[in-house]
Amino acid sequence: MQSMSARRERSRAADRDSLLRQFQNARKMTKALVAPLSAEDCVIQSMPDASPAKWHLAHTTWFFETFILLSIEGCSPFDDAYQQLFNSYYNQVGAQFPRPARGMLSRPSLERVLEYRESIDREISDRFDSLSAAALALVELGINHEQQHQELILTDVKHLLSLNPTAPKYCDRWPLGGVSTRAPDWRGFDGGVFEIGADGRAFHFDNEGPRHMTALPDFELATHPVTNAQFLEFIEDGGYDCAEHWLDAGWQAINQNAWRAPLYWKRCEAGWRCFTLHGDAPLDPHAPVCHLSFYEADAYARWAGARLPTEAEWEIASLSARRSGNFLESGVYHPTAPKLRSEPQELVQMFGDVWEWTRSDYAPYPGFQPAAGAVGEYNGKFMSGQYVLRGGSCATPADHIRPTYRNFFPAAARWQFSGLRLARDASSPRGARRNNAGEKSSPVFYKIGGVQREDERVEIERDLMRGIARISPKYFYDYIGSQLFETITRLPEYYIPEAEAEIFETNADAMAAAVRRVLGDDYQIVDLGAGNCEKAEKLLPAFQPARYIAVDISAEFLEAAVGRVHQRFPEIPMAGVGTDFSESLDLPEEMRDMPTLAFFPGSSLGNFEDAKAQRLLRSTRDLNASSAILLGVDLVKETQTLEAAYDDATGVTAAFNRNILRHVNRIIGADFDPAAWRHVAFFNEDESRIEMHLEAKEEQTVTWKTGRRRFEKNERILTEYSRKWRIDGLDAMLRRAGFERAGVWTDSQARFAVALGAAGKS
Ligand code: AVI
Repeated sequence: MQSMSARRERSRAADRDSLLRQFQNARKMTKALVAPLSAEDCVIQSMPDASPAKWHLAHTTWFFETFILLSIEGCSPFDDAYQQLFNSYYNQVGAQFPRPARGMLSRPSLERVLEYRESIDREISDRFDSLSAAALALVELGINHEQQHQELILTDVKHLLSLNPTAPKYCDRWPLGGVSTRAPDWRGFDGGVFEIGADGRAFHFDNEGPRHMTALPDFELATHPVTNAQFLEFIEDGGYDCAEHWLDAGWQAINQNAWRAPLYWKRCEAGWRCFTLHGDAPLDPHAPVCHLSFYEADAYARWAGARLPTEAEWEIASLSARRSGNFLESGVYHPTAPKLRSEPQELVQMFGDVWEWTRSDYAPYPGFQPAAGAVGEYNGKFMSGQYVLRGGSCATPADHIRPTYRNFFPAAARWQFSGLRLARDASSPRGARRNNAGEKSSPVFYKIGGVQREDERVEIERDLMRGIARISPKYFYDYIGSQLFETITRLPEYYIPEAEAEIFETNADAMAAAVRRVLGDDYQIVDLGAGNCEKAEKLLPAFQPARYIAVDISAEFLEAAVGRVHQRFPEIPMAGVGTDFSESLDLPEEMRDMPTLAFFPGSSLGNFEDAKAQRLLRSTRDLNASSAILLGVDLVKETQTLEAAYDDATGVTAAFNRNILRHVNRIIGADFDPAAWRHVAFFNEDESRIEMHLEAKEEQTVTWKTGRRRFEKNERILTEYSRKWRIDGLDAMLRRAGFERAGVWTDSQARFAVALGAAGKS
């Protein structure tokens, strides 16, 4: 049997090996993060708060050199001058080059700084076996310090690039995200006396301890961080112009700096956009809002009838949260809508995506003592005039963050990925609050004929083996595909949403009157492919239906959306039905008891082949003896406009098209390489439809669990038809399905039409 001491020795050696690997990986990650930058990008300092990437590269190296190597006898500095140039703020180490002038350091060159890094990495690795326990603890601190600078490299580079009017991209990858699947809600927490802070068993920064008792009354926390859409409501409600929401210092800050939106946001004709590390991008309404100062977060919370959480509330609540957010390693570098399905009342994105401002001053915990020596200057001396942020962001390495982690910034700092989550006292009267975090709603939800993976597999395999392979467009819409489609709807080239919205805005009353003439006053709306229900939501005030039923493939998605709409129109009974209606529409008996208006906007009918479109139309006509359909159809127009809408300049539609292969890979276990396929979209005049295909860039063989297929170079897979109509062709289509046209409305540029069909008397 091994002796106790031999085992302890072996486990210590294993710990040492693992720490060395962590050190090497952290150092590699930093280099990888600067790889997309030019030497010029690395030198410039965009503001006193930010540092050039070259300085970060050097300073993190200086940290290991100063605190580990230079305390070993016989070790001398790589370059004496670096002791001052790359010392950030350690007075006990010596003088420092002024922070606001770091961008003036054209020397040492980037190349020389990289040599410095290599040299120090080699020295540390070579000496690793002989490092003392105290030195190893400093290596661990150095790794965590390096990770903090990895985040700063991204936020500082983002600030720098944002100043360039050409909006350069740090990386050319679209920030793919999830989709919001559940409406925000409040989650209640019982008060009590709790222990918070690090217990010293695993690595933590000095400011996270000592662990201590704290008393909390009952409180409630929002399940989701505040989103861009929610923050936009604040802006549109004049939030920045109304002093009552603001702390005095905040009011002064927004007025002196002329802040009227979060940092990097800009309002354009087509809506709000924001600068990201992927360049200029449309604002994702479902993603957490970020780049807010403490003042803006606090004002928003006040406007919403809530408040910011304290750091103790945040920490206690976070103990039950999954680490489901988006971290540095995802390569997304931007907060996204939640990626994973959440349970009811689950705290979503507590970790990752955005740092969450708390109402807590950055102060020492009771009994806090800074470490002895210069490293004692790490955190303790900054404990004045700053606020605590919790949870990490999309630029934080995943293994860097923990429930006890205390980040801190001055109240006016906006260049970090900083957002917020609302909190409120459990005793607040519920009725007095706004519904930003979502109140309980009572719509009913049905799931009909759940999608069978097996059927999908058989369908896809059959379609791939056809002479001309095809994949049904319904497979576009996995999580990422749905997100990409939402992005498509905000592209300047994709005119459909804008044209259709204009039609609804201008004609809602006329449409509602026409529907009433056909169906009477008591009718229900059945919203086909309702998604986030936003289109129907706009019509409800004019239409005032007796019931609203949202139908879509994903019941989970509907729960969130219908819940939200029901909060706005609590007087309208609502239901959600999760079903695949691509073959025909099948609703529960109890939903066929009144005149029905099927609402099918967005020209989604255009994605159905003729026979299927007819079947769907007929099944909507048969929902009730008295039925009608309000149908959005895209109209024929110049080929150039049509083709640009399906092959946009930023490549979002191409990414959407290729993403179908990822979805197929998951369903049938195939090995499609999306990068090996070219996006092709063109207008087929004879058939009056846009066709989307994927074209093999090279000859290739794709295998899946039960089969394989060889594709020749340039061979295509058909992924989508998008039918375009002429107004005079609409009547024939409606008549074949048993409807008579009872109205048609177009936008001012005649790009799109909405037709009302009324069931004939047959
Ligand atoms: C959902 N459907 C109406 C879209 C269209 O325009 O046919 C799908 C789409 N495909 C590429 N871009 C948009």
